[in-house]
Amino acid sequence: MHFDLIVIGSGIAGLSTALSAAPRRVALITRGVLADDGASRWAQGGIAAAVGPGDSAQAHARDTRIAGNELNDLAAVDALTGAAAEAVAWLEACGVGFDRAAQGYLLGREAAHSQARIVHAHGDATGAEVMRALGAAARAATHLQCFEQHLAESLLQVDGRVVGVAAAGAQGRIGLFAPHVVLATGGIGALYRHTTNPATADATGLALALEAGAGLADLEFVQFHPTALRTRDGRSGQLPLLTEALRGAGAVLVNGAGRRFMPAVARDAELAPRDVVARAVWAELERGETVWLDATRAVGAAFPQRFPTVFASCLAEGIDPCTQRIPVVPAQHYHMGGVRVDAAGRSTVAGLYAVGEVACSGVHGANRLASNSLLEGLVFGRALGRNFAQQPVQPAARFDLPAMTEPVDGTVGATIDTAVRDLLWRHAGLVRDAQGLQQAQKTLQMLQREAATHGERRRVAVAHCIVAAALQRRDSVGAHYRRDAAQMRTG
Ligand code: SIN
Repeated sequence: MHFDLIVIGSGIAGLSTALSAAPRRVALITRGVLADDGASRWAQGGIAAAVGPGDSAQAHARDTRIAGNELNDLAAVDALTGAAAEAVAWLEACGVGFDRAAQGYLLGREAAHSQARIVHAHGDATGAEVMRALGAAARAATHLQCFEQHLAESLLQVDGRVVGVAAAGAQGRIGLFAPHVVLATGGIGALYRHTTNPATADATGLALALEAGAGLADLEFVQFHPTALRTRDGRSGQLPLLTEALRGAGAVLVNGAGRRFMPAVARDAELAPRDVVARAVWAELERGETVWLDATRAVGAAFPQRFPTVFASCLAEGIDPCTQRIPVVPAQHYHMGGVRVDAAGRSTVAGLYAVGEVACSGVHGANRLASNSLLEGLVFGRALGRNFAQQPVQPAARFDLPAMTEPVDGTVGATIDTAVRDLLWRHAGLVRDAQGLQQAQKTLQMLQREAATHGERRRVAVAHCIVAAALQRRDSVGAHYRRDAAQMRTG
């Protein structure tokens, strides 16, 4: 099957790319159901855009750089923040119903933003609303052919150039060919014990890129969200997110004794940068404390209307957040590192592109500013798609699909995976040091030998790259915190 473009992944980055590439013929490969199997639909906070009175793209860019510890790619930051307002308008034209005030959008405030600039939908259900609208647009688009329930097994290459994808579905293996292949596969949450990501965020895109010989960058920068809901069963894997907007609305973090600990840690207390808050929560837990998010005063009876998603998650755990505190644990949330791409989304391998969380354009630097992630997929996905739409059509390669010696398993859950998750959580998590990272390297080498399937080996290989990157960066910066570093670097 021949196309002008293949997109792997159906989150906001994949769909923005695919929709904007019209009239080019696009194949969209997704592991589950269109628009439903990535992290985008779980996003609660919203989309940051300078659309409020007195706000500007420059102020948004400044906040983005400060959050990123000034390690950001400046051109990428300007491209992101400069296109935000127009991209939000495009989403509205696609049918997304954002929450509105009497004049303009109802804007939320999140940590490290100098002002309220988060547009959201149905309170805390922004990702779900965006994916509903984009999914409907994708189903209606005639230039798009969707391959649902298909797992991208490998990238097909000729003379080093990526020319297609081998994918496995219920009907067997298929070969899709196109001169351009875009990875929009999301993040790496499934490699960590606790995460806000769905199980499909299992580093597939990084593994495919690695196997194709593409460069990866900034892998040590892994962001942890301070407030995931600690469930009664203490399970690992995806945990319900307690959006930062709750703290933006005035919710506070307290320990078991009911004492607020953030004011002693940072001037902005609960609204300090995400890594600062997440590490403070971690430190309390390491001390044997329990940590709770108390929104009873700040939100109280308005919970069901203002934060329906969080409200439902709490009720499912037997907690009424209008009147009760919510137990929290930090959780892996977002990967700033990824497949190294240039301003046009190109990886270091010809024919291969990356966009959204799987990509590393440098836009986030060492730490992503809240609500810049849907924005990233949206803005850079649209730019990439439009670029393809404007390029002359190139012929796709034609050759027989090579035999796959060993199929890739699409489920994370084997013993090896549990070991990887625990290892990264402990040694390449919120707090790291050389000794722990070296120990992790040794264990990963052993796990690589023991891994029984191609999928397991892939995940171990990506984990290895993350640990190696964390070991190499000896100082603490942004989300990468080395307890053995002399001092926190500020940029
Ligand atoms: C949140 O709602 O707290 C998450 C927002 C984000 O990660 O940008």
